[in-house]
Amino acid sequence: GAPVEVDISGLQPGQKMTVEWRGKPVWIVRRTKEQVEGLKKLDAQVADPESKRNAYPTPDYAKNEWRSIKPEFFIAVGICTHLGCSPTDKFQTGPQPSLPDDWQGGFLCPCHGSTFDLAGRVFKNKPAPDNLEVPPHVYLSDTRLLIG
Ligand code: FES
Repeated sequence: GAPVEVDISGLQPGQKMTVEWRGKPVWIVRRTKEQVEGLKKLDAQVADPESKRNAYPTPDYAKNEWRSIKPEFFIAVGICTHLGCSPTDKFQTGPQPSLPDDWQGGFLCPCHGSTFDLAGRVFKNKPAPDNLEVPPHVYLSDTRLLIG
């Protein structure tokens, strides 16, 4: 499939947009400062904090704390790495048992309950074998993104 060019200039902090690439939904999430900060506190709770697993290899430029090129923007294929269901976003807000008091949200797969943080990192002891896939992408400018 052809690469998809996306204008992200209208995306506000805390918002997500979805585009189609190779027949798959690709999410572009603009994380708030708090959401970026919140990721650090989850390292001990996610199964593969540094994206070392290889079911869905993470591009080198996203093998970092945020799993993205720019901390503010997270780009991921919106398909659960377990059996392909569609996770929903911001599944929990506010204080939650076993999550930090300042939990900033994430993604929940409704099929078998896999949960992911806002970098698409799967939490421990969930059926999904890997973090959400980060598709190949590059910034053409501050507001234009090329996926694929
Ligand atoms: Fe997502 Fe099974 S398909 S948890």
